[in-house]
Amino acid sequence: MSETRSSLHGEWSSGMIFVLAATGSAVGLGNLWRFPYLVGENGGAAFVIIYLLCILLVGLPIMIAEITLGRRGKRSPINSLRSVALEEGRSANWALLGWLGVAAGFLILSFYSVVGGWALSYVLQSLLGTFQGITSDSSTHLFETLVASPFSVLGWHTLFMLLLFGIVAMGVRKGLQRAVTILMPLLFVLLILLVGYGMAASGAFQEAMAFMFQPDFSAVEGGTVLTAMGQAFFTLSLGMGAIMVYGAYLPKHESIPHSAGWIVGMDTITAILAGLAIFPIVFAVGLEPGEGAGLVFITLPIVFGEIPFGYLLGLLFFVLLSVAAITSGMSLLEPATSYLTERRRDGSRLKAAAIISSLIWLLGVACGLSLNALSGITVLPGMNIFDSLEYISNDIMLPLGGLLIAIFVGWRMRLSSVVGELGVNENGALFKLWLVVTRFVAPAAVILVFANATGLFELFG
Ligand code: PHE
Repeated sequence: MSETRSSLHGEWSSGMIFVLAATGSAVGLGNLWRFPYLVGENGGAAFVIIYLLCILLVGLPIMIAEITLGRRGKRSPINSLRSVALEEGRSANWALLGWLGVAAGFLILSFYSVVGGWALSYVLQSLLGTFQGITSDSSTHLFETLVASPFSVLGWHTLFMLLLFGIVAMGVRKGLQRAVTILMPLLFVLLILLVGYGMAASGAFQEAMAFMFQPDFSAVEGGTVLTAMGQAFFTLSLGMGAIMVYGAYLPKHESIPHSAGWIVGMDTITAILAGLAIFPIVFAVGLEPGEGAGLVFITLPIVFGEIPFGYLLGLLFFVLLSVAAITSGMSLLEPATSYLTERRRDGSRLKAAAIISSLIWLLGVACGLSLNALSGITVLPGMNIFDSLEYISNDIMLPLGGLLIAIFVGWRMRLSSVVGELGVNENGALFKLWLVVTRFVAPAAVILVFANATGLFELFG
């Protein structure tokens, strides 16, 4: 039974380290790259408010459910689901939910690593001083040249995967834990420096505050709510087992609801701080916030090329982006690596990590090449390999995984097991609230996102 099972991979040395690692997973390209441009494209404050509601109503309860499941199982997501399902008198086929997560991790990491590689390459560009005096045309050209060159894209992607492999191969304590204890404080210091600059020096901080916090609901369109919800899933790393496997390494007596509150809070604060770091400098030089996916890689270098201390700030920003991408990438690699380690007779994590990293690297090569040499190949109608993988994993697999996790923990586990794992009082008001949200509100909301993402609504016109 789960009471006597212990993790084969070791444990975090404290609940705080778990919070740090899970925050490292959550805070990534989703916060620093995707969130600011979504705010920019979707009219600012109104989007921010809807996003915050999604985080609270769907993200937080599913985060608690996913950690609960992980710590109950104490194994890779596949094996945790199998053993917990059997203990609860349910079908061993729930392990398929673990497989869904492992597959999602493969797909997400293959394009995540390509973008993580761009972040690394922009660290080098900042060091070389490339952004000094750069024009809008030359910034666009710089980014397009990088993306158009198979050699550069694959080189940086390879470097990014090698870093992740190195960290994950060293295991929970020596690899993951050591990486987050060094990288996460660095990340927060860098972010605070950038926000500090935005407040003190740019002269456009008020404008950025108004843009992010004074809502104009006329800017909200039908798709806005659903975009906000999809972003809530992606940014919290939910629905694919990353948080579950980190939860498996959480020591027994640490509180799950408290940890989840911290992770969700820190992720949300980081996204807001990223906005407050980026928009003042964008407004200060009179650029538009709605630039889309190019905001970070095309617009920001122009800004860094113009403002005082731009050399240093640009360097800080791209180091920050790379660090955030690495701590998220680790968690994308861990579910599959932990599973293969459990399966191997020799129990070698090094070999397991090498095999999984190579496979994901290969898929990432296809993603990287789909932006240049293989751009003619489409997988889903009208989408190249990169966009297809992003769509299938973010818009379909994560919401589906999150939905099934909420259903399993909310409906298929005994209440006594859930209460025991959470260490709470069954009659407590907060527990009851969580249970209702996990059983009804979160699944209903996810079904809406899912229906939207797959175009189901259009069928009903
Ligand atoms: N949460 C990460 C980010 O915001 C991405 C991620 C998704 C990581 C799913 C792990 C699992 O960048």
